[in-house]
Amino acid sequence: MTISIIGAGYVGLITAACLARVGHRILCVEKNPSRLAILEKGQSPIYEKGLDEVLSEVFSQGTLRFTSSIEEASEHSDVIFLCVGTPSLPNGDVDLSQVEDAAISIARCSQTTKIIVSKSTVPVGTAHHLSQLMRRHSPHDLEFTLASNPEFLKEGVALEDFMHPDRIVVGCDQNQWRTLFEEIYQSWIKEGFPLLFTDTISAELIKYASNSFLATKISFINMISDIAENAGGRISDIALGMGLDPRIGRLFLQAGLGYGGSCFPKDIKGLMQTARNFGVKTELLEAVEHINADRIKHILHRVQKALGSFLGKKICLWGLSFKEGTNDIRDAASLTLVSHLLEEGAILKVYDPQAMPDFMEIFPPSERLSYAQSAQDALLDADALLIVTAWQEFKDFSPHRIKESLRNPLVIDGRNCLHENQVHQAGLSYIKIGEKSPRSHS
Ligand SMILES: NC(=O)c1ccc[n+]([C@@H]2O[C@H](COP(=O)([O-])OP(=O)(O)OC[C@H]3O[C@@H](n4cnc5c(N)ncnc54)[C@H](O)[C@@H]3O)[C@@H](O)[C@H]2O)c1
Repeated sequence: MTISIIGAGYVGLITAACLARVGHRILCVEKNPSRLAILEKGQSPIYEKGLDEVLSEVFSQGTLRFTSSIEEASEHSDVIFLCVGTPSLPNGDVDLSQVEDAAISIARCSQTTKIIVSKSTVPVGTAHHLSQLMRRHSPHDLEFTLASNPEFLKEGVALEDFMHPDRIVVGCDQNQWRTLFEEIYQSWIKEGFPLLFTDTISAELIKYASNSFLATKISFINMISDIAENAGGRISDIALGMGLDPRIGRLFLQAGLGYGGSCFPKDIKGLMQTARNFGVKTELLEAVEHINADRIKHILHRVQKALGSFLGKKICLWGLSFKEGTNDIRDAASLTLVSHLLEEGAILKVYDPQAMPDFMEIFPPSERLSYAQSAQDALLDADALLIVTAWQEFKDFSPHRIKESLRNPLVIDGRNCLHENQVHQAGLSYIKIGEKSPRSHS
């Protein structure tokens, strides 16, 4: 099939690459000129494991092309996926401007009717709103069909998630389009991945409900972690003991610095907006947000207690991206941490295997903030190591080398990702989330 995709960000580019890989002919529109220039060279502007290889495969097959022209996309296909951003407005409501702009541009230039499929996460009722908006902007008074096909990929394992999804959800209010989606996702259906067909409102709500539920799990375990920290338990054992119950499950039950990234924080807010619009109370979601916001204060308090004061202290930060496996720093814990630590007078040396270029644009190098060439380099002479992102290279790093490199052998593990026994054997003073006090075995 021929398919057009608007937006080549994390979702659009993965969608384009994977649909092209199974043989669809994809034209992907990107309006950001620097991003487009990289894509046109056959490279990826984002870091995602395996993506470069898939892009070179589909380029050589000739099944994926990029353009800046929505007109060309409209001519290319009658099926157009929207994969543009839906960030939060300052008041927490969803900013639909990218989605509306793209829909209006398609309506203005289309000579024939189209089926518009939103992979962007949009509030309940957006499909209906967009179909009216597009009709108003169509010079030919065309009626467009709007469908919702929310995306559930996780950055860091995005290709794997797209190719092996738990489910594919399609919301469409006209049943006759079912066969079209069966054709788009034929390769997935053949392999037995479930395609759930529903109405647009349910599909829109499934996405917000799923992300908000996962964020709730994270805040829940962080609340339990605070209890364990005071009561003297071990959060890793508690989470395991809970998670082995299949009704609870082990995923998203890791205590730490809380959730971040471009989805959970804004999707919780988006669901609250929807709830308010329909007169439904939002206390549960507000509590999830509050617990999450407190995580950074909580860890800073523990670091300060261990160090005495931040003033003039050299702190090494490992990890800047919001999670391992991606260069994405949107709503990352590192942003708040770095800003607080600099305000408090700390001297920071940071390292991340992928996210430093983007981070430098927000926090340029300065007298008190430097960027290290390697994890080892970041440690040298520091008063403490603070682990912010659980990259594999940090998990694999020898605790003995950490001990030798630091000036003061203090490790604060914001992701509980080091091997505890090895850390103790190395004689490090180790602060974990969800455990009472540093255990020093030096
Ligand atoms: N990132 C994720 O992990 C993830 C997962 C599931 C769902 N989502 C949802 O998918 C949507 C996209 O997220 P993302 O992270 O890929 O966003 P993103 O900001 O990385 O990408 C959006 C891209 O669309 C481009 N764009 C915007 N308007 C355009 C237009 N009119 N024409 C051409 N290009 C245009 C932007 O330049 C940008 O490159 C959001 O609604 C998000 O909530 C994201």
